[in-house]
Amino acid sequence: MAPIPLLTPYKMGRFHLSHRIVLAPLTRQRSFGNVPQPHAILYYSQRASKGGLLIAEATGVSDTAQGYPNTPGIWTKEQVEAWRPIVDAVHKKGGIFFCQIWHVGRVSNYTFQPNGQAPISCTDKPIVSKVRANGVDVPRFSPPRRLATEEIPLIVNDFRIAAKNAIEAGFDGVEIHGAHGYLIDQFLKDQINDRTDQYGGSMENRCRFALEIVQAVVDEIGADRVGIRLSPYTAGDSDPDALGLYMVNSLNKFGISYCHMVEPSMAKEGEKVETPRSLLPMRKAFKGTFIAARGYNKEEGNKAVSSGYADLVAYGRLFLANPDLPQRFELDAPLNNYNSSTFYTPDLVVGYTDYPFLC
Ligand SMILES: Cc1cc2nc3c(=O)[nH]c(=O)nc-3n(C[C@H](O)[C@H](O)[C@H](O)COP(=O)(O)O)c2cc1C
Repeated sequence: MAPIPLLTPYKMGRFHLSHRIVLAPLTRQRSFGNVPQPHAILYYSQRASKGGLLIAEATGVSDTAQGYPNTPGIWTKEQVEAWRPIVDAVHKKGGIFFCQIWHVGRVSNYTFQPNGQAPISCTDKPIVSKVRANGVDVPRFSPPRRLATEEIPLIVNDFRIAAKNAIEAGFDGVEIHGAHGYLIDQFLKDQINDRTDQYGGSMENRCRFALEIVQAVVDEIGADRVGIRLSPYTAGDSDPDALGLYMVNSLNKFGISYCHMVEPSMAKEGEKVETPRSLLPMRKAFKGTFIAARGYNKEEGNKAVSSGYADLVAYGRLFLANPDLPQRFELDAPLNNYNSSTFYTPDLVVGYTDYPFLC
């Protein structure tokens, strides 16, 4: 029998993956007080497999990075210590674990900010429509404060420290969250970024913040431990094709491990929509490992890998509901349905660690 493309091995730089089914980053809002909790040990280890790549949920880089209740951070010693047993459990099962490091920017409100201050962003324009592409609970947003030019290196440094902390916690690497309308994406998009300094205006200027973060993180932990997630097609840019291409060409200079791109269909909420756009030009231009995500089932994932459209495919909702997803794909077994009403509830078991295994 011909091998199942998703279940063939792949070498991602220093990491030997035994299959190409990646756990997409999934915010679960069960990290009380921004500290990862022991129940995440079971959740992540359930989804770990020997040689399988897992990406942890979006994890705040600082006390201004938050915009949702109970999301984890990685800027304090307590948070680093709390991540350690979770990472250890994934490693014990042979998994490779990257931490998605995150700043929400203006997707926040006063109640999430230190001293009730305004959220920070590249702009002082408030959000006019909801940003969350997958969300159930749409938070109310406060008008942001525009970062001064001289403050920007401080935020870059927060990402650097978060990456250092992630390695200290035992993670194999970090994924810089440059997608979905959060801080980095706010800088990238020409309909959000209205700056007149060297961080706004031209494509080069709008991408500067993201690329300075990549540089800082690469310098800190090494390019082979760095990935980035981008979603040029989520709302906010007049020319997402050009933006995506500019970014991957710029990323090539750093030799980072992977670029993780969200399919254009993510631009629309709900079910997959047909779009003439494709990630293929970016896939072709990027020299490292290319991960595609959004709306994939087994057949489409296999097609993406066998046709060379992607090296790896990240699965979100299917992996959330099927902790043994690689095994189910291998056996062509039926899948559990996901229950979106428990995606973000604080229950430590229901909708979190109680999705059944095949056996
Ligand atoms: C519950 C939930 C939480 C998510 N949290 C994150 C996140 O923390 N970071 C991120 O980049 N994307 C996040 N996403 C997007 C997913 O990573 C993924 O791109 C999306 O679910 C589409 O893939 P799918 O069709 O395989 O589910 C989330 C999606 C869901 C459903």
